[in-house]
Amino acid sequence: MAASLRRPSTISSSSSTEADDEGVRGTCEDASMCKRFAVSIGYWDDPYIQHFVRLSKERKAPEINRGYFARVHGISQLMKAFLRKTECHCQVINLGAGMDTAFWMLKDQDLLPSKYFEVDFPMIVTRKLHNIKFKPLLSQPILELHCEDTLHMDGHLLDSKRYAIIGADLRDISELEEKLKKCNMNTQLPTLLVTECVLVYMTPEQSASLIKWAASSFVTAMFVNYEQVNMEDRFGQIMVENLRRRQCDLAGVEPCKSLESQKQRLLSNGWETASAMNMMELYSRLPRTEVSRIESLEFLDELELLEQLMQHYCLCWATKGGSHLGLKDITC
Ligand SMILES: C[S@@+](CC[C@H](N)C(=O)[O-])C[C@H]1O[C@@H](n2cnc3c(N)ncnc32)[C@H](O)[C@@H]1O
Repeated sequence: MAASLRRPSTISSSSSTEADDEGVRGTCEDASMCKRFAVSIGYWDDPYIQHFVRLSKERKAPEINRGYFARVHGISQLMKAFLRKTECHCQVINLGAGMDTAFWMLKDQDLLPSKYFEVDFPMIVTRKLHNIKFKPLLSQPILELHCEDTLHMDGHLLDSKRYAIIGADLRDISELEEKLKKCNMNTQLPTLLVTECVLVYMTPEQSASLIKWAASSFVTAMFVNYEQVNMEDRFGQIMVENLRRRQCDLAGVEPCKSLESQKQRLLSNGWETASAMNMMELYSRLPRTEVSRIESLEFLDELELLEQLMQHYCLCWATKGGSHLGLKDITC
């Protein structure tokens, strides 16, 4: 078995449309720094995030930390429910994964799918791969599970038995599909696709194509999407303006009008069932012991701001097939 990921690499000349999208790529740093900060003050455990991103010098506001707690908790609940229903005989494809650490966390919990795929812009993947290569805590789990001689790796891609990370533009479906297939994506296996705060950076046409591709590619599947909602009100408009000032355009804000428009996008692009919940509702359904624990971590006097913020994000999930597995019954 290979002992290290620091082996000579096969450099590929994978396509690179890197000039644009700097603002969108910057959101990866924002999200991972917020997660790292929340972890550092005890909102949830994640021993891996510190190996991907530095600790922010500035404190993040308590409402931001609680928002991230609800986001990570909600996605993790849906993901674990899918893994349990399929008894882990499935795939997870995290689209726009950024510095997400779920692969490592699931391995620790003995809940790894047959294969876990991550996709992001090549530049983000190169950064993530650099950390994976040079930090044994990240590379060892991948190598341990690989148990084959060859491990395919280049600057924008790593393909191992149970984990693959792929540099690709999600707006180019044929490139995405080709690269996933090269990494042995199996369209017959139940598949969970996750987009955590990603679709809003594409035009509605581009996100619709991605959602449609996902629905048509797998026999049995679930799609989990976390992103903005209620974006037509004043608070929503301010969110758009703030991001625009930071060179980040929310090109896909249109389907983020309401929970209904979020569900409709899924249903009109090939999914059979769709559910959606705003994050305030999700927060109010969290186990009381967990809420008391996190609410004791920091004092928050702006309850109204927390509520407004949480009402402008949502979790949506959709299923296709899998009635024998009970995928339709999965909820937060
Ligand atoms: C807000 S970050 C979220 C990262 C991660 N999902 C999380 O929640 O921690 C958005 C991510 O989507 C990626 N992304 C956005 N548009 C993309 C595209 N067209 N192709 C590939 N990745 C994209 C960005 O590079 C970034 O990593």
